[in-house]
Amino acid sequence: MSLFIFIEALPAVGTSIYLMFFFSRLIKYFHRMNVLLYIIIILICLALCIPAINFFNAYSFMYYYFVAFCALFGLISHFLKDGKVKLLFQSGLLSFVCLALVVAYGWMNMHHVVRTDFYVSSKKVSDLKILAISDLHGDEVITSKQLEKYVQKMNKVKPDLIALAGDIFDERTRKSVMIAQAKTLGKLKSKYGTYYVYGNHDDQKYGNTMNSNTERFSGSDIKEEMEKNAIRVLDDQSVNVGKNIVVVGRRDASYSRASSQNLLKKVDHNKYIIVLDHQPLDMSENAKNGADLQVSGHTHGGQIWPIGYVQAIATKTMRYGVKHIGDFSCVTTSGIAGWGYPFKIGAKAEYAVIHVK
Ligand SMILES: [Fe+2]
Repeated sequence: MSLFIFIEALPAVGTSIYLMFFFSRLIKYFHRMNVLLYIIIILICLALCIPAINFFNAYSFMYYYFVAFCALFGLISHFLKDGKVKLLFQSGLLSFVCLALVVAYGWMNMHHVVRTDFYVSSKKVSDLKILAISDLHGDEVITSKQLEKYVQKMNKVKPDLIALAGDIFDERTRKSVMIAQAKTLGKLKSKYGTYYVYGNHDDQKYGNTMNSNTERFSGSDIKEEMEKNAIRVLDDQSVNVGKNIVVVGRRDASYSRASSQNLLKKVDHNKYIIVLDHQPLDMSENAKNGADLQVSGHTHGGQIWPIGYVQAIATKTMRYGVKHIGDFSCVTTSGIAGWGYPFKIGAKAEYAVIHVK
């Protein structure tokens, strides 16, 4: 934990030193610097950077974007002649405007849920339509009332099968909301039913540190509510669906779980094998062990650009889209909402419709 705080503090301290130079240069345009001004600048920069030490809040995201814009415009200003335009670039004003635009775009993008169609091929099934929803994260962005509307909209897709690919709830979701949203998701209609796997956030294992007044619930509470609403919970389990489909639901990778090999050796390989795994992991293993399709979420498509790209490289996985390995395909959706911030900059908020042809 202390190492993580150190990793979070390092960029905050580094950028605050940059901001000190930035503000000093700006003030020098108007006033001769003195000790008092330096102290004031240091105090302002500390006040700006300290809340950013916690990555997981909206302020941190805005702080780093602001510093990045300041650095970019500061760099450009070196190529400009002395004058008003150069001062504008070095003033931080443009950075504020750009930050405001990014925040406005991110907020609108997060609250504008779209349908995204993905296409994969198979020799085992001819025309299968799967609706995949992941990363709702409770009512953080989409209220229960809005979810009702989205469910009505998604029912127009008329899918054969529905996958709830994890992080439908999180540690900020109140139990009453979990119950209400499970009921709403139970209204999704399809030929073969709805199948749910846990994500890393669903059972609130990260604790209630963000909101100690939330009503708590456990993974088994979710299972109870899902099953009340005819949603099948798959926790390292598989189920035969229709005549020629198997759905294998994996426990989230943040827990100890059955291997891909152990899970897939138990299923009929003549059937079309769909693996639901919240995080887009073990793709090569699933391909090697006979799976046909993997449906994942978790990445939010890179909710805050460019973190998704960094995460995908660091974790050697994928950020978004479709990955093919031989006849196997993995679809990673960016999710219907997101976590932690009401902004989505690196990807769209979506429900995925996967067409298997
Ligand atoms: Fe997740």
